This record gives sequence, structure tokens and C-alpha cells, in this order.
Amino acid sequence: MRVAVVPAARAEDLRKVLHGRGIVDRTVRMAKRDGAVLIPLTRDPPVDLSAYGARLEDRDGMEPRPRSRDPREEVRERLRRYGVPDGVAPTKWERFGDVVVVRLSDAAREYRAAIGSAFAETLDAQTVLEDVSGIHGVLRTPQVEILWGRGMEVVHREGGVRYKFDVAKIMFSSGNLPERTSIASKVREGDVVVDLFAGIGYFTLPIAVHARAERIYACELNPVAFHYLVENLRLNRAENVVPLLGDCRETAPRSVADVVLMGHFSAKDHLDVALDVLRGAGLVVYHELCPREQFPRAPLEHVTEAAHARWYDVESVHSRILKSYAPGIVHAVLEAHVRRRPRTPMTR
Ligand SMILES: C[S@@+](CC[C@H](N)C(=O)[O-])C[C@H]1O[C@@H](n2cnc3c(N)ncnc32)[C@H](O)[C@@H]1O
Repeated sequence: MRVAVVPAARAEDLRKVLHGRGIVDRTVRMAKRDGAVLIPLTRDPPVDLSAYGARLEDRDGMEPRPRSRDPREEVRERLRRYGVPDGVAPTKWERFGDVVVVRLSDAAREYRAAIGSAFAETLDAQTVLEDVSGIHGVLRTPQVEILWGRGMEVVHREGGVRYKFDVAKIMFSSGNLPERTSIASKVREGDVVVDLFAGIGYFTLPIAVHARAERIYACELNPVAFHYLVENLRLNRAENVVPLLGDCRETAPRSVADVVLMGHFSAKDHLDVALDVLRGAGLVVYHELCPREQFPRAPLEHVTEAAHARWYDVESVHSRILKSYAPGIVHAVLEAHVRRRPRTPMTR
């Protein structure tokens, strides 16, 4: 195997640089020999090794690294070694591809650099980000800061789907996982689906990959999210999806759909669009933020009112709390089967 042989005094510096480039082979243990350290590599590094007094060598018999223990314990140990007091650093993280996202308390901010390195090294991440203040605005953009590393673009794999996105510009809610993984089962063979708030394809992609829809129209307002949506259609070979850039009120095709997806907290203001998109009957998957004590009454009232205004009846509903969003506020999902009322002949 290829190894970098480096004097022990420069080994940690070089290891960090190589790790940052994703070149250290973490399945193999580093070894020591005559005052030098042998760093196992996945390929020849594009780094000037002579600057570290190091050189490349081929070496057999390097020992495999035993599979790691609980990574939380490893993070804790590393943090201690880097001088971060116990109880200060986060104990949880989210991972998207090679990027790890953490939240920091005020006390932890003083140790940002050490926390970034500890998470990057233990979890073998290319980048560690601080989620500074959640997701914002109509376009649902995140606010993050880099603690360690550089790369922001990830390919996150989930339920057989690949989602490429820039972690600094695009949200990805792990709390919505149950919705992403179950949405395809709501779509029947031959259905036409309109996803009014497609983002990078959170729901469109699992449907395209796992269901047998005839066509999926995916509307997205944010050009950055739209760029990734188009890229993700290619990555997942989703050929029956029509991506539509712009406000769904303008772009969504009317009278075509059997299923309409409304995965945005402004869904209430677009219920008229959803009903116009349906071709007489179908399923509306509606999302709303609502006070816990108003669930499921409030979302049901909103959908029923909008349906009646468009001459639709709500035939059946299924409601659930997807997650708790803030103290006292829940992210509710309502699936409503609706049908347009038959026109009755005018009576005199
Ligand atoms: C981020 S997604 C919501 C999250 C998603 N439901 C999930 O499971 O993670 C909502 C998307 O709707 C887009 N959006 C907001 N208003 C829109 C509109 N009027 N027309 C089309 N897209 C819109 C936003 O840009 C955003 O990308």
C-alpha cells in the first residue's frame, strides 16, 4: 500500500493536510518506524511532501484499523485532548455526505476550531459547519458557518435516492425523513403528480425513483434549488419529471393531476392553485405549521374551506404530526382525498 513516511515531529501537520484532502486511508492504522510515522494513503497526494520532510513509499503488512467504538465517545476523547471542557461541545450532529453539521452553545463558540477538528477527524468529514440559526424565509435557506474544511456541496444518499445540494445554501430537514421515505407509496401507477414546492426534489425524487407515476411536474421558485433539482433528476435518472422554474402559481399546469404535494409552510395561501391543478379528484398532501392544541382542526378547516370554495368535497382525511417545530408549534401534514361536486342541472 502507498504510505507517506514523515518525521514524527511533522506527522500531525501532514496528517491534517492529507485528511483535509480526503487522502488518508482510515481503514488502516498509522504505524511508527525509526522516529518516522507512516500515514496510509488512498492515492498519491497532490501535496509537496518535501515541505514536511516526507516521502512516498510502498509498504506491505500495514495493520487494519479495528472498527471504531461509539463515535460519540471518540469525539469526547478528542475534545478532551484538544482542551475543550466536558459538557461544552455538542453531543449530536447531522451528516449529509461528507459534511457534518452541529449546533453550538455560546460557551462552545470559544472552542470552535477545536470542535471543528475533533468532529472532522473522528467522523472523517470534509467539512464541519455550525448551524447558526436554522432555516429562513420563503426560499427556506439555511444560515451556517464553517468550523472546519471547505467543501459545501454534498451528495446525500437516503432511501435509494441521491440528493446533491450545497449545505450552505439549501435546507435539508432530517426531521422530514419519514415524509420523504413514505411519499412514493401514496402514488398509484399512472398517476400524474404536481409538486408545487419541489426544492431540490425532496418528494419528487423518491416518487420518480420508487413509484410508477406517469409524470411529475416539479415547481421551484429558488434558482439555486432549481439548479440542484435539475442536477438530481440527472443523478437519479428520473426521466418522467418536468422541472418548472418560477412561482407555482404561474408555472403549475392546471387540470392535470391526481396528486398534489404542498411541502411548504405557505401551502395555505396556495390551496386554490392545488385544487385547480387537480383533474376533478385526487389527493392533496398539505403541510402547515400550527399550534399543537389546534391540530388537526386548523389544517382540516383550511383545506375544507378552500375545497368548498372550488366546488370540491373532502371525502377522507388522514392527519399526522410530522415533528415538533418550536415550543407549542407542530409541523402538521394532512392528506385529503377530494372530489369535485357533480354539476347539477339548473332548476326553475
Ligand atoms: C425547502 S422545500 C420544503 C422542505 C421539504 N418539504 C422537505 O421535505 O424537506 C420548499 C421549497 O419551496 C420553494 N418555494 C417557496 N415558494 C414557492 C412558490 N411560490 N413556488 C414554487 N416554489 C416555492 C422554496 O424555494 C423551497 O425550495
